[in-house]
Amino acid sequence: MGSHSAAVGEQQTYDYKVVRQFAIMAVVWGVFGMGMGVFIAAQLVWPSLNDLVQPFTHFGRLRPLHTNAVIFAFGGCALFATSYYVVQRTCQTKLFGGFLVPFTFWGWQAVIVLAAITLPQGMTSSKEYAELEWPIDILITLVWVSYAVVFFGTIAKRKTSHIYVANWFYGAFIVTVAMLHVVNSAAVPVTLTKSYSAYAGAMDAMVQWWYGHNAVGFFLTAGFLGMMYYFVPKQAGRPVYSYQLSIVHFWALISLYIWAGSHHLHYSALPDWAQSLGMVMSLILLAPSWGGMINGIMTLSGAWHKLRTDPTLRFLVVSLSFYGMSTFEGPMMAIKTVNALSHDTDWTIGHVHSGALGWVAMISIGSIYHLLPVLTGRKEMWSVKLINIHFWLATVGTVLYIAAMWVNGITQGMMWRAFNEDGTLTYSFIQSVVASEPGYVVRVIGGAFFVAGMLIMAYNTYRTVASERSEEESAAAPQAA
Ligand code: HEM
Ligand code: HEM
Repeated sequence: MGSHSAAVGEQQTYDYKVVRQFAIMAVVWGVFGMGMGVFIAAQLVWPSLNDLVQPFTHFGRLRPLHTNAVIFAFGGCALFATSYYVVQRTCQTKLFGGFLVPFTFWGWQAVIVLAAITLPQGMTSSKEYAELEWPIDILITLVWVSYAVVFFGTIAKRKTSHIYVANWFYGAFIVTVAMLHVVNSAAVPVTLTKSYSAYAGAMDAMVQWWYGHNAVGFFLTAGFLGMMYYFVPKQAGRPVYSYQLSIVHFWALISLYIWAGSHHLHYSALPDWAQSLGMVMSLILLAPSWGGMINGIMTLSGAWHKLRTDPTLRFLVVSLSFYGMSTFEGPMMAIKTVNALSHDTDWTIGHVHSGALGWVAMISIGSIYHLLPVLTGRKEMWSVKLINIHFWLATVGTVLYIAAMWVNGITQGMMWRAFNEDGTLTYSFIQSVVASEPGYVVRVIGGAFFVAGMLIMAYNTYRTVASERSEEESAAAPQAA
């Protein structure tokens, strides 16, 4: 009850409604997007699942629905929720922007629903991670500009003298995503549902992967590093290991990421120097990535014992380990000779999901488990035991997924490049597909583990939010009598 009235007090100090809306929707879209991931993974094992409702349930149409749902709906809602929470608390002021605040929530949900309607119908710009057609792109721009006004407006009216480092990362994420989205989505509309890119040929490819890689660097990394710098110290009850390192981390990361996109276009029509530049910048990127990871992990110095009893902290720390792993793997894959083996194989898919499940999803889940009790005035989530079960399902699920894709990726790469003495290929493509089947089955199992954990999280979230309501009702009852 004491903590409940503290939360009521905080509700007056801070604008928590929108934080709560975004946090709950992150869980809902997480279940949906990852459930879609398991479905398309199952299609690769049982192709007849493509025919459920042709052409809407075809893999080619549902795959972008999966990527949009997990990155922009799940990841996006987690970023909105945590950035709105962190910026208020570290600036000690309510959100700026009035009606723009609810507009960012409803506008973003509208974008997601429109994506879910248009993508299965085959309406797409064909640009990976930027598939949505131009009217939706305009709505995204409006929401994003409003987000920037709310976020930077709140920073401008802060009651603290300095701007905490988490806000620097969130700020860079907001500004860069605006720039990427506007430049890459430039297109000539033909009808309401069809447009052509403003760029052509190799230029189009470079703009697309400048966007694509920085979507990874800023949407899937910088914003989540903002989460790390707030929620890891909070949950561990320790200050950030090195504030100085965090500043070096920030400037190094944002100045390097932007040059690395061409590693997606090795051995393509892109000029060779541009490919090599992307490779070199990717290798250097290892340093700030690991600097940041070490800063996060070392924040636990003196608090390691808490890992034994606190599964939320475990989510946060394990996410950092996966971040370290995927940012080691990425620079290796950017080396041209390594990329000659890994490109177009399941190795890339494994790399993606060690970042996506291990880093992005786990840090979001940990942060939301920290947030929800504060928002609902509870000491902790309805069940800490369920958080622990979720933690193990998520960890085992991720490991199964990525291990299966490593095995598949190397197998495919080796089979495709095997030659006979007379110069003909040793294996046909279909032989490599057959060899990949066991890995695809393991991925379905790993994905199902991960989604089972998300369903447990949804139940725990529901019970946490519902028990707050019943506390409110019981508090109101005696007054009414
Ligand atoms: C239960 C969890 C998940 C499962 C089972 C799953 C499954 C899949 C499958 C089967 C694909 C298509 C692979 C292919 O074309 O060969 C895919 C692609 C992708 N997924 Fe997931 N996924 C999951 C969670 C996530 C999450 C949480 C994220 C991001 C935060 C994510 C991001 C992506 C991306 C970016 C791609 C495209 C990769 C590329 O084009 O290289 N996935 N996923
Ligand atoms: C220093 C950090 C990183 C570097 C240098 C890096 C590098 C790479 C390279 C070389 C590829 C393969 C490109 C290809 O052969 O087509 C790739 C793919 C990818 N990476 Fe990373 N990576 C890094 C970190 C991350 C992280 C942390 C995430 C996710 C959170 C991530 C998400 C992706 C995605 C989604 C793709 C697939 C893109 C596509 O083809 O659709 N990367 N990365």
